[in-house]
Amino acid sequence: MKISAKKASAASAIKADVLVIPVPSTPDASAGVLADVDAAMDGRVARLVERGDAKGRVGYATLLDAGGGVKAAHVLMVGVGDGDAGSWREAGVAAGSRARDVGARVAAVVTDEDDAALVTAFAEGFAYGNYRFGRYKTAADAQTPAATSLNVVGGPLSAADARRATAVSAAVAAARDLVNTPANDLTPTAMAARAKELAAEHADLSVKVLGVAELTRLKAGAMLSVARGSAEPPALIVMTYAPAGAAKDGDVLGLVGKGVTFDSGGISIKPSGGMEEMKMDMGGGAAVLEAMGAIATLGVKQRVVGVIGATENMPSGTATRPGDVVTAMNGTTIEVTNTDAEGRLVLADALYYTATKAKATHMVDFATLTGAMVIALGEVYAGLWGSDDAFTARVRAAADEAGDMVWPMPLHRLYDPLIRSKVADLTNSAATRMAPGAVYAAQFLGQFTDDVPWCHVDVAGTAMVKGAGTGFGVGLCVALAESMADG
Ligand code: BES
Ligand code: MN
Ligand code: ZN
Repeated sequence: MKISAKKASAASAIKADVLVIPVPSTPDASAGVLADVDAAMDGRVARLVERGDAKGRVGYATLLDAGGGVKAAHVLMVGVGDGDAGSWREAGVAAGSRARDVGARVAAVVTDEDDAALVTAFAEGFAYGNYRFGRYKTAADAQTPAATSLNVVGGPLSAADARRATAVSAAVAAARDLVNTPANDLTPTAMAARAKELAAEHADLSVKVLGVAELTRLKAGAMLSVARGSAEPPALIVMTYAPAGAAKDGDVLGLVGKGVTFDSGGISIKPSGGMEEMKMDMGGGAAVLEAMGAIATLGVKQRVVGVIGATENMPSGTATRPGDVVTAMNGTTIEVTNTDAEGRLVLADALYYTATKAKATHMVDFATLTGAMVIALGEVYAGLWGSDDAFTARVRAAADEAGDMVWPMPLHRLYDPLIRSKVADLTNSAATRMAPGAVYAAQFLGQFTDDVPWCHVDVAGTAMVKGAGTGFGVGLCVALAESMADG
């Protein structure tokens, strides 16, 4: 969906399938945009407001068939409450969803609000709400078409704001597609193909895909121990973005994603109920992959490397057994006490590769790492761990800006005893239930960062909400790359 900034014009004169009007908690039909539409619609808007039918409660949507002097086919009033960026984004989601239901192709939003951050959040939200995943529905009438354009009329958006919102929302939609695509179609090879497609679109974005042979040469025994149970070959996908104009000796941002395209648990197999949702176990990798595309589209002047550890976790005669000891790329030995704690094995090698071979100076990983994360913070916040206060503050600010909500969690060497093994250096699943599992998983990852400033984002609860991919993390990655480019 193309988001454009258009010059101001009378609301009633705007041509669109749906004219969207954000409404504050106490709507006033006698002023501004609402008054203009009210006058063109013979007082219908004022009557609705009077009766309390047009509520400003966040996301409350009132759809009117327009007519009268209004050129648009429908008028959609949607509440933004008392309005921080989060409420405007949520209101945008409600509006986008309703617009999809009525099959609107061209939407326009008109508002008296002059804060560009709020209107941008609304526009991005509109694109998110307009998204549907219909690839596997065969009935012709099972789908309404998506909106092709959203015109922000007379608002505070600059052309650059609109271009950015278009790129970010397209990348979020693409990441959602990857998460929603079932594992028989979205294999590690298919993820690598998507990365190659993006690289072909941008001259300054390149991709290298490391298979079993290269991973064996690199001694990436942790990631390979996960892959060996599956008939699908693994792929360590390395995307390098090196824009002209970014200092050659400057910082390199490493974005690392868990790309487990299906997590059956392996020999420590998961219960069958809900196992289908484990097609989403590549949600972190999808966010990194599509964010790389958006960063390249926007021409952010920052070197960035995206590394996605893509593999299936399956049980088979060749699968890793509980009790097996494997050696990670950095030489650390790991006793695999639970084959379902596979994400940290994949990331151990992906992080070490990013720090040492891809020469990242700062790293953030995104991973649907633990069920404990879902128990701790649910589907609202992702957990954020960080090894370096200044970098962690920067990541947090980028998350706030993007609306990808994160909450700080602890790393501490006093958690180390939880990840120690009796027979090897480390165990991949602690024998105790003391510290929350999400914390000792993070503590485990910290052993493979080569002391590069690093953050870990556990997106187990936020990558998929109510069975659908969210694209969580894409906005964070783009905002972080921009923040580092700004110095
Ligand atoms: N992919 C799962 C974590 C997960 C659970 C993501 C629910 C999304 C929703 C991960 O690989 C896993 O299975 N973790 C185990 C680790 C345990 C065996 C130490 C878990 O959290 O149960
Ligand atoms: Mn698992
Ligand atoms: Zn997993």
